[in-house]
Amino acid sequence: MEVFRELVDLRAAVAAARAAGREVALVPTMGALHAGHIALVEAARRPGTTVVASIFVNPKQFGANEDLSRYPRKETGDIAMLTEAGCDLLWLPPVEAMYPDGFATNISVAGVSEGLDGAARPGHFDGVATVVAKLFNQVQPTRAYFGEKDFQQLAVIRRMVADLDFAIEVTGVPTQREDDGLALSSRNVYLDADERAKAVALPRALGIAARAIAAGTPVDKALADATTYLANAGFEVDYVSLVDAETLQPQPDAGRRRQLLAAARLGTTRLIDNLAIEPM
Ligand code: PAJ
Repeated sequence: MEVFRELVDLRAAVAAARAAGREVALVPTMGALHAGHIALVEAARRPGTTVVASIFVNPKQFGANEDLSRYPRKETGDIAMLTEAGCDLLWLPPVEAMYPDGFATNISVAGVSEGLDGAARPGHFDGVATVVAKLFNQVQPTRAYFGEKDFQQLAVIRRMVADLDFAIEVTGVPTQREDDGLALSSRNVYLDADERAKAVALPRALGIAARAIAAGTPVDKALADATTYLANAGFEVDYVSLVDAETLQPQPDAGRRRQLLAAARLGTTRLIDNLAIEPM
């Protein structure tokens, strides 16, 4: 795997791949990689495709009181994991190159970015959309891979790609989980042993509520029960919501694809997860 820290060099390598007739696929990350990220690289790998991963801890998507300064950074281990996974190129932009003095542009995707995490984390999805648009322009892939773990983020990116005519096919990759069901996340390292044991309540609460809704339990009751379940397990709940899987609007029509989304905190660690309602 070749590692790039200068945009001109990355562009030259991508241009060479394209000139050789190869397709270019992008996997954007913030590093501290785990098997969830690697599943994206594996989904991106195909014959004739050059896979580019990026690692950039994007300051614009962290709020003032969030974990930017303590966000885990593990460059050496990340490079080893990406090499092992068969990633071809790694883009490691320095922050001054991404946001030089005078940087003034903001991409804001209305609608899908407004409720849920958008309400809990003001400005977060603007930061995500802005950096992903930059990465798309820097790498110019024809395919890009994102995890369903960050369900609202995936919806924001899909909307942006459609609205701004990026010629990029966006693929969502299913959430990778620990054996007990906890979604893999770079932030799981913040959990102490006691919190890690409690954390399994999040996927469990979603599973119970999703089955109840599919079986016809009134949605309000299923969501209230899930909230109580999480509170009893020691979580402070930000939201448990049922939304339309495409528009992310609440009170979705039962005839459409529906997704259950939750965010809750254990101590100072904020976890998110989501689950599709599978028709019975
Ligand atoms: P990060 O949290 O590092 O995640 C990078 C990608 O990995 C995202 O698309 C995310 O949804 C996916 N991912 C994380 N955990 C996963 C899991 N358990 N299963 C499947 N996929 C998983 O998301 C970001 O970085 C940033 O917001 C980014 C898109 C890179 C923009 O800065």
